[in-house]
Formats: sequence, structure tokens, C-alpha cells
Amino acid sequence: MDSTEAGNSTTAIVTGGSRGIGAEIVRRLARAGHHVLLVYGHDDEGAEQTAARCSTAHGRVVAFRCDITDDEAPGRIFDAAADLSAPSILVNNAGTTGTISPLHDATDETIRSVVDVNLIATIRLCREAMRRWQDAEIGPARSIVNVSSIAAKTGSAGEYVWYAAAKAGVNALTTGLALEAAPHGIRVNAVNPGTTSTGIHARAGRPNRAAEVGAKSPMGRPAEPDEIAAAVKWLVSAEASYVNGTILDVAGGTR
Ligand SMILES: NC(=O)c1ccc[n+]([C@@H]2O[C@H](COP(=O)([O-])OP(=O)(O)OC[C@H]3O[C@@H](n4cnc5c(N)ncnc54)[C@H](OP(=O)(O)O)[C@@H]3O)[C@@H](O)[C@H]2O)c1
Repeated sequence: MDSTEAGNSTTAIVTGGSRGIGAEIVRRLARAGHHVLLVYGHDDEGAEQTAARCSTAHGRVVAFRCDITDDEAPGRIFDAAADLSAPSILVNNAGTTGTISPLHDATDETIRSVVDVNLIATIRLCREAMRRWQDAEIGPARSIVNVSSIAAKTGSAGEYVWYAAAKAGVNALTTGLALEAAPHGIRVNAVNPGTTSTGIHARAGRPNRAAEVGAKSPMGRPAEPDEIAAAVKWLVSAEASYVNGTILDVAGGTR
């Protein structure tokens, strides 16, 4: 823990914290002294392992199984976080692309589930944060970071345009909500990761995608998950206290 952050005992909610980018966000926030509610969908073992690996003397990590698309999810997640200590950070990181294909081959189920996880659940979790935080006593600085994607700009032609569309929605949400939330002392920002080495590509049906796409990118490699987590951790920190409504590309120069 760096000394400027000693004594952070507020709780951060990180969705999709069991692996990939989310696990590195959990690790960095726990190391900064936050308690972390690690929200995941299915992988009990992975979530418990990440929670054990990331917990620190000052930052307790608790794994919480909850499908973020469930009707009751936003309330359950914020209640569980409050059991640790007052939540002050929400990182909407959980995401899925569906199987890679041109749009004409995508099923309704794929399109609906991708929009549900990436966009609708993010909107509903942001709404829960606003309901709980906007009239609360002035307390710790509050902040939301949405993990979006550079796909919102590139459009992901031939791969998953429905996912790109959902992430573009996340970025519009970020822009608008930042203006609504600022008078309440709540900052709202997003990051657009470029292609990052995680298991999301194998689940999309192309296990080598990160290496292949990364090799053709300006820096000649994909991002490592911790390179995305570093940006998220900065955005929620006091060092970014005047950063609001920003959508930060962490994409190695891909536009
Ligand atoms: N990797 C990339 O190249 C890349 C690039 C740009 C943007 N991003 C974005 O970065 C974020 C993280 O991606 P990643 O690559 O780290 O993904 P990942 O390795 O596939 O991990 C996804 C995480 O989301 C959770 N999750 C998925 N659906 C869920 C649901 N319905 N309810 C609760 N949790 C759910 C998973 O938990 P369970 O497995 O337990 O369900 C897992 O913890 C996503 O928003 C993604 O769109 C990734």
C-alpha cells in the first residue's frame, strides 16, 4: 500500500472480479487499502482463489456470487458491500462478447445476453449507486468507473458489432451520468481497453485472438490485464479528483 492511501477503509465493488482485468483491479484496490466486494457469475473456485490471493492486511476481499443481470442484483450487491463498510467505489467491469461472427449469424440469445451484461446491468448498477449515494451525508469521495472497450470506436466489424454497440452505450451513459452525478460529489469515468490477454477471447471462440490482434496493433502486442487495472485504480483515486466524464483509451494507440 502506498503511504498516501493508508487508512482507506471504504469498500469498492468490482463486478467480474474473479479473473482477467477484474482480478487485477481487485488486487490493486485491495493493495490501496480498500475492502473489495468481488462480484462474479459462475466460477466459485476462481473467485475464491482471487479473493484469497488479493486480500491484504488493510483490504479484505470477499467473493460474492451474483448474476448482475438478475432483477435483484443491484440491491443485493450494494447490501453485501455495505456489510464490509460503506461502499464508495463501483467498478462495472463484468463483460462478455458472445461468439465471434458477422451480425447475420448472431442469435437473439447472444445479442440479448451481451447487451444485458455489458449495458443494461451497468446502467442498473449505476442507478443503484445514485440512489444510495446522491443524498447521503458527505462522506468519502465516491466514484464509478465503467470498463468499456475500444470496440466502441472501432465497431468490431466481423467479430461482434453487438458488443461494440453495447460498449458505445456504456460510454454515452458515462458522459451523461458524469454531469448528473457531479453536483452530488460523485465522479463517473470509463476506460476503453484495447485487446488484452484474458480468457474472454477463448470464450468468444478464438483463443489466440489477443496475440494475433495485438501483433497488428501500434505497440505490436496486446495489453496485460494489470495495465488496464492501473488506469482504473488511478481514476478512482484522489489523484484523479478533478477527472470526471472522461473516457480513457488504454489501447496502445489503437483508435
Ligand atoms: N480482454 C479484452 O481484450 C478486453 C478488451 C476491451 C474491453 N474488455 C472489457 O473488459 C472487461 C473485463 O474483460 P476480461 O477480458 O477480463 O473478461 P473475462 O476474463 O472473460 O472475465 C469476465 C468476468 O465477468 C464475469 N461475468 C460475466 N458475466 C457475468 C454476469 N452475468 N454476472 C456476474 N459476473 C459476470 C465473469 O465471472 P464468471 O466467469 O464467474 O461468470 C468474470 O469474472 C469486460 O467488460 C470486457 O468487455 C476486455
